[in-house]
Amino acid sequence: MASTSTAEHPVRSAAELETMRESGRVVALALQAVKAAAVPGVKLRDLDDIARTALHEAGAESSFFGYAPAWAPTPYKGVLCLSPNEVVVHGPPTGRKLADGDVLSIDFGAAVDGWHGDAAITVIAGTSTEEDRRLVAATEEALAAGIAAAVPGATLLDVATAIDAVAKRHGFAHLPDHGGHGIGRAMHEAPFVPNQPLAGARDVRLEAGHTIAIEPMLLAGSPEYRTARDGWSVVTRDRRRAAHAEHTVAVTDDGPVVLTAP
Ligand code: MF3
Ligand code: CO
Repeated sequence: MASTSTAEHPVRSAAELETMRESGRVVALALQAVKAAAVPGVKLRDLDDIARTALHEAGAESSFFGYAPAWAPTPYKGVLCLSPNEVVVHGPPTGRKLADGDVLSIDFGAAVDGWHGDAAITVIAGTSTEEDRRLVAATEEALAAGIAAAVPGATLLDVATAIDAVAKRHGFAHLPDHGGHGIGRAMHEAPFVPNQPLAGARDVRLEAGHTIAIEPMLLAGSPEYRTARDGWSVVTRDRRRAAHAEHTVAVTDDGPVVLTAP
């Protein structure tokens, strides 16, 4: 999400976490189905249909369809965000066909009984280059590091520092002004969860029962970006590629629990 201010951060009960685990499972299963279909020649819109069917079969609601944040010109029309190559995040499903070697971020959100799950993976369609594989692997590693840091007593500065260390080690930039978020009754809740050690992150301390979506977005080139004419797609100015990985995570006394794990 785009960065916002941080406010209160609710603690979830065991029953609420169980429902969030259910929506998380729906998200994970749909992402697996979409991943399997993300081959050269497929239309992005067909991938959206696959996710829509998965939602339907699970009896879950889309977190994305109809979403209308203040910064967007029109309500969101898809159930997936499909962001190829130079599109970093928030790419609406279109008639664009995946080409061999395309790097595609697939982002999906679902709600069960009003409790949301949000996750993203980046896949490479067909033949991949070493450089693209490195970008995707670094993004997954950054997500894993952020998750591992999400323990009771840690602050969002600890989470951001863990994510940022991985990005730095691999020499990739972050998408500025964007990061993860609290999640629960709404897909986007306070607090903003930065990927870089920003001022203010130290003031947000994690407790058991907090639920956050962690989502590093790493760039192969320079961090300048713009919003495309569709009003949604976040695109790198140098048109170099990006990768994105996201999980919804519960902070617990037994350590971080990935609610969007398959
Ligand atoms: N995971 C994305 C985010 O947190 C989901 C965007 S949903 C959309 O920003 F509806 F805004 F596209
Ligand atoms: Co998100």
